[in-house]
Amino acid sequence: MSQADQDKWNQRYREGTYAIRKHPSALLEEWLPKLKIPAVHSRAIDVACGTGRNAIYLARRGWHVDAVDISQVALDYLSETAAAEDLPITCIQMDLEDAGRRPADLFTAGRYDLAIMIRYTNMPLIDTLKDVLKAGGYLIIEEHLVTEADVAGPRNQEFRMPPGVLRDAAAGLDIMSYREGIVTDPDGRPAALAQLVARAHR
Ligand SMILES: C[S@@+](CC[C@H](N)C(=O)[O-])C[C@H]1O[C@@H](n2cnc3c(N)ncnc32)[C@H](O)[C@@H]1O
Repeated sequence: MSQADQDKWNQRYREGTYAIRKHPSALLEEWLPKLKIPAVHSRAIDVACGTGRNAIYLARRGWHVDAVDISQVALDYLSETAAAEDLPITCIQMDLEDAGRRPADLFTAGRYDLAIMIRYTNMPLIDTLKDVLKAGGYLIIEEHLVTEADVAGPRNQEFRMPPGVLRDAAAGLDIMSYREGIVTDPDGRPAALAQLVARAHR
């Protein structure tokens, strides 16, 4: 990547062509209450967090969240919300495709109780996310699925995942839930999704 990707996403957020969703991922909402995690100081990383609908949802429930995105425009929006509500969110601007430049302190093995990657495709990053989980930590991933249907999300099928690929990428974790299909988002739009909830061995 790329300055071009950064510019593209900054422009989308600045001009509102990528709609800012307020509702958290339904998958996260469904699973968060079921996770067995320490009651205090639980730490999460939200990669490609955008304007932080999911990071905010977690932080409002007491999680300390490292929120990473390439778009400074999106992160500025998130920082404002976090400051206004005094939420424990640390915003980090970085290109997640540039593996060589990932800050080592952020991607330290065993740092997180939960790692989430929602509607952002970066398959090599999944192995890194597995590594940063504590023993017993959770990975929640939601990806757009290859489809012929008229659904929300990228038109370019390159940014969609073929069936089964996300499940295979979770090898080495305990898969707690894996689903593929069309869901209706809270804003009423259909989305074709692969949804994974997995846990690192204790
Ligand atoms: C479809 S949005 C999803 C945002 C958020 N996860 C959500 O569910 O609302 C994809 C996000 O990926 C970010 N992104 C794209 N390429 C990236 C990269 N190379 N490194 C970091 N973030 C990236 C974009 O800025 C954008 O916020």
